[in-house]
Amino acid sequence: MSPETPPDDLVARAAAILRSGGLVAFPTETVYGLGADAWNPRALALVYRVKRRPAEHPLIVHVAGGSALDELAREIPEQARRLAARFWPGPLTLVLARHPRVPLEVTGGQETIAVRVPAHPLALSLLRAFGGPIAAPSANRFGAVSPTTAAHVRDDLGEDVELVLDGGSCDVGLESTIVDLTAGRPRVLRLGGLSEEALSEALGEPVLSGKSADVRVPGNLSSHYAPAAELSLVQASELEAKVREANRTGARVSVLVPEGVTVPEGVSAKVLAADPGGYAHELYASLRELDRAGAELVLAVPPAALGVGRAVLDRLERAAAPRPTQRSR
Ligand code: TXA
Ligand code: MG
Repeated sequence: MSPETPPDDLVARAAAILRSGGLVAFPTETVYGLGADAWNPRALALVYRVKRRPAEHPLIVHVAGGSALDELAREIPEQARRLAARFWPGPLTLVLARHPRVPLEVTGGQETIAVRVPAHPLALSLLRAFGGPIAAPSANRFGAVSPTTAAHVRDDLGEDVELVLDGGSCDVGLESTIVDLTAGRPRVLRLGGLSEEALSEALGEPVLSGKSADVRVPGNLSSHYAPAAELSLVQASELEAKVREANRTGARVSVLVPEGVTVPEGVSAKVLAADPGGYAHELYASLRELDRAGAELVLAVPPAALGVGRAVLDRLERAAAPRPTQRSR
């Protein structure tokens, strides 16, 4: 479609594609999503196929407002209402008990459902035009870095997605924070765009974090969110020594650092904002850039582990984790 097509027409076309069981990629404030009609099992099957995602990994359902919770969840605890009122639209996903009519394809066969209201005007326009819940994982192939621009989506999914709504680059740049409200005390299943501090403050008690035995969260696979290059986390104080060591291996080395950290001479560098929010915003696009430039080893210095900085550290740690396909590199 030509760049001059008015946004309302594009949104109407996107809604029509969803109604006919097709897929549409759309921007949210966190990352781009690959959307399908959440009530249509065949459309949902297509999402899994295009993403190459294992069928038991559940999808997040996107809605236009908190009132949609009643048709998706069997039980809505007071804490869910409070968090929804406080943080929606925004980078927070709530896990609740699934309403019996929600297709099991959405929930990966689980009895729980993940829901959020995205804070992006195009996402909200699409949700209103479509008039129902949209199931959407991040619009990348399974295991890769999430897309934060429309061009990233095209690079990843090409013609497998009929329409990509272009809403510019995503403000937050990291996925939503996922909170499980089905097991008593609220528990953070995935760190993301909303900090644990903000959640605890809103709930009036500290949220739990870390794994609980029976919840499957593929974003929690240790090797998820990885660029093609090997990634190693380093502290600013050891950067120079690590670069020297890495150079001896003959690998093409790049560094990823927050502004203010001294970059050793002669190494290619990607300098991100010093504040954790700015670093998060640029992180995924930068990892893609380093891949395109042919980096084989990225030495990454994280931002301060405050607020969203904790989520950044989480993603960098996962990107640095050993990967099943990396043995030969
Ligand atoms: O910011 C985001 O959350 C983005 C945008 C597009 O909204 N979406 C996203 O989707 O990151 P995806 O599919 O890449 O990651 C969804 C995560 C997975 O880790 C999945 O396991 C978890 O949500 N999830 C979905 N349903 C769940 C459930 N019922 N219980 C526990 N985790 C669930
Ligand atoms: Mg994802």
